[in-house]
Amino acid sequence: MSGLTLTQFIIEEQRQHAQATEDFTLLLNDVVSACKRIANQVNKGALLGTMGSLESENVQGEVQKQLDVITNDVFISSLEWSGRLAGMASEEMEDPYAIPSHYPLGKHLILFDPLDGSSNVNINISVGTIFSILRAPAGATRPALQDFLQPGTQQVCAGYALYGSSTMFVLTTGHGVNGFTLDREIGEFYLTHPNMQIPADTHEFAVNTSNQRHWEAPVQRYVRECLQGKEGLRGRDFNMRWVASMVAEIHRILVRGGVFMYPLDSKLKDQGGKLRLLYEANPMSFIVEQAGGVSSTGYHRILGLQPEALHQRVPVILGSKNEVERIVSYHSE
Ligand code: AHG
Ligand code: MN
Ligand code: MN
Repeated sequence: MSGLTLTQFIIEEQRQHAQATEDFTLLLNDVVSACKRIANQVNKGALLGTMGSLESENVQGEVQKQLDVITNDVFISSLEWSGRLAGMASEEMEDPYAIPSHYPLGKHLILFDPLDGSSNVNINISVGTIFSILRAPAGATRPALQDFLQPGTQQVCAGYALYGSSTMFVLTTGHGVNGFTLDREIGEFYLTHPNMQIPADTHEFAVNTSNQRHWEAPVQRYVRECLQGKEGLRGRDFNMRWVASMVAEIHRILVRGGVFMYPLDSKLKDQGGKLRLLYEANPMSFIVEQAGGVSSTGYHRILGLQPEALHQRVPVILGSKNEVERIVSYHSE
């Protein structure tokens, strides 16, 4: 495989954009290393005896898988020492992680979901890692919780690793979206999916229809019209997918278009939605918008939301522009 490695790509991008710093480039390299280590763990599967669940629950009240905790630890140990970060926050930790005082502090904050789709891990279906990088507010040497609560428009970089039939790393720094595939023998990611673009039109949607009876009217209407197919108002047949791993769904949408929804429903009303704003919805929305797609709660642009809590949840409707705009218009009618 010839072609650009991820490291070369990051350095080239840094050269082109004056505001990118060497500090940031090195941080991103550490994120890539963490994802390679996680890929290795996930890929070894049952051989490591780490496929089970734990007794513990995370702050969201979800039973933790062994790998949720292991991958969280991998992320922390790969990044805390580097001197590039002022703070870290994760799905698996109630409060931001305080970087030990014997390490230097840097200028960025990272929020991450170390293992997304972890219910898939012991059935050998794709899982992933999602991350979002912010600037620490000026003067914040020891960042407080408040410093992490920045709208998604403030993200410096967002990305995910997908541990599927191949391992991929997909990245945006606000200059489009690029995808890289891991060559396991060499241990490097290579640029295989330059300038990813989500087609504006699609015949494919993804939603967990077991929640259908709880959805709000606009989502009911959209899905009903899709299911009516050729005979209905849309005049064409639709296809449906549900992997239960957001990373895998977003990746499919980046490659061939589609709509992904985890909408608000009556069961989720009190908690505001299922997916978490800061380390799931925001980074994925940044990527989707950078690839020409749209991302909304149904009522508001996700990237414009002012976060109020670290583990805040939001409804998510994102993907191909024309379909998402149609769903949003159903919400405003
Ligand atoms: P996580 O494994 O990080 O908790 O996230 C799982 C999320 C998301 O990846 C996926 O789209 C959704 O939850 C699946 O939800 P259901 O189990 O309701 O299908
Ligand atoms: Mn997740
Ligand atoms: Mn997770």
